[in-house]
Amino acid sequence: MPTSSAERTGGGGSALATRGLVAGYGDVVVVHGVDLDVAEGRLVTVVGPNGAGKSTLLKAILGLSRVMDGHVVLDGDDVTGQPLELLARRGIGYVPQVDDVFETLRVSENLEMGGYLLDKSERAARVDEVLEIFPALKPKMRRYLGTMSGGERKMTAVARALMLAPRVLVLDEPTAGLSPALTRVVLEEQARALASHGKAVLLVEQKAHAALEISDWAYVLVRGAVAKSAPAREVLADPDMAEIFLGAAVRDGGVK
Ligand SMILES: Nc1ncnc2c1ncn2[C@@H]1O[C@H](COP(=O)(O)OP(=O)(O)OP(=O)(O)O)[C@@H](O)[C@H]1O
Ligand SMILES: [Mg+2]
Repeated sequence: MPTSSAERTGGGGSALATRGLVAGYGDVVVVHGVDLDVAEGRLVTVVGPNGAGKSTLLKAILGLSRVMDGHVVLDGDDVTGQPLELLARRGIGYVPQVDDVFETLRVSENLEMGGYLLDKSERAARVDEVLEIFPALKPKMRRYLGTMSGGERKMTAVARALMLAPRVLVLDEPTAGLSPALTRVVLEEQARALASHGKAVLLVEQKAHAALEISDWAYVLVRGAVAKSAPAREVLADPDMAEIFLGAAVRDGGVK
């Protein structure tokens, strides 16, 4: 099984990597020494039971949870603990687990807010580019987010994160609360499509099967540690996968 960083990410260096990352909240350690690699043009998915530490891992990368040890590396530079705005300037886009779109604003206004670091003409040009990626939003630009479906809101949240043209996209459960059909749309037409546009995409998903089907590489996170790191197809075919999820879910106090 391939183990080097370049092989793991499918070639080249990593756009985003973590090395021995230990993170949590206050004195509580949630993430126990995680090594992870995401190369440009690749879709890498982290799956694992509820409470495994998936969101905490992403937040540690984004400087939003406490990093106790280890490193976050962006394009070869150590950016451990850097604030979100600086990471945004350096090319990371983040869509958190909790919807962060503004319901009382129009789609167009949400996109403009996503481009807050750009000047006015750059921002307008960038809106056009983002709409090339998500043409379905074009006819909805004047709609208020509060009147839109869950899928459209997620699409707007992702589009908003794209306004600063990030090279690295970090998405925390973009399909939460969506129907199976919309889940497929978000995963295939958003997450997969972004990787095909050359972005490095790091995805966290509860819907492990659907996510693994469209991913290049997978990390299975159990109680804050990587239980398996392998090509997504291999993880999908692994009979131990169900056991890992079920076993951990039972230990954590109940099956969903
Ligand atoms: N802000 C916080 N302060 C303290 N503890 C937290 C905080 N957020 C999460 N935790 C704890 O960290 C652990 C991991 O939570 P986390 O949200 O990272 O898991 P997850 O894998 O994303 O779960 P889910 O699949 O339910 O989203 C849990 O025990 C949780 O209670
Ligand atoms: Mg989470």
